[in-house]
Amino acid sequence: MKIFREKDYDAMSRRAATVIAGEIVHNPSCLLGLATGSTPEGTYKYLVDWYKQGLLSFQSVRSVNLDEYVGLAPDHDQSYRYFMQSNLFDHVDIVPENTRVPDGLTKDALAFCAGYDAYIRAQGYVDLQLLGIGRNGHIGFNEPDDHFVKETHVVDLAESTIDANARFFASRDDVPKQAISMGMGAIMGAKKVLLCASGEDKADAICRAVSGAITPQCPGSILQLHPNVVLVADEAALSKLIASGVKV
Ligand code: GLP
Repeated sequence: MKIFREKDYDAMSRRAATVIAGEIVHNPSCLLGLATGSTPEGTYKYLVDWYKQGLLSFQSVRSVNLDEYVGLAPDHDQSYRYFMQSNLFDHVDIVPENTRVPDGLTKDALAFCAGYDAYIRAQGYVDLQLLGIGRNGHIGFNEPDDHFVKETHVVDLAESTIDANARFFASRDDVPKQAISMGMGAIMGAKKVLLCASGEDKADAICRAVSGAITPQCPGSILQLHPNVVLVADEAALSKLIASGVKV
């Protein structure tokens, strides 16, 4: 695992954006696996800036997002489709038809999930998968469990995730209780994974994911088995890993 140790959120965001930009320059029609949450917001800002400066084009880029809340329409301001539109897609030259976010309103989740995986497989898997990490170690919405789930699936959100994400909603009761998430098959099938983290509240999850036991109780720990992971994190998020003696 290659680790970039950055001083703060802005430096982390900029570094992560350089990794994504590098992928796009190298492979203009790459399939990007994209993530939502507060972690990648700054990264998307840099990518939008560089697009506006003419340094980058998304014209041939294709994207698949990790997850979406069940029950939220694409135009709901807390849906992940809305997040992607307002943080990235609406500001760059990506072709709308080339972007995919799980459909939170699907009436047939099983068929939808199977189709999502079939699409990713048919594309030869994701070229670069961007990931944040939950405080409980979740990636996408793969929550701590007694097993890893391979396929895209409907997840019951952990109470701790509902608590963590309540800050984005009017009240905790408004947070959806389920989500559709890519499974570990698609994530681990990616040719390269870019894991990002910022802040003290991610220090424990990063330490467990990077150097703890490989266990579905910390879903991010499966990344230790991936041959090509880049971790971009700030000092605060790396603090426990560094304190545990891992050289970064
Ligand atoms: C969310 C998302 C994840 C994200 C994580 C951390 O619930 N499903 O994809 O990485 O939790 O979010 P944040 O970056 O806001 O801390």
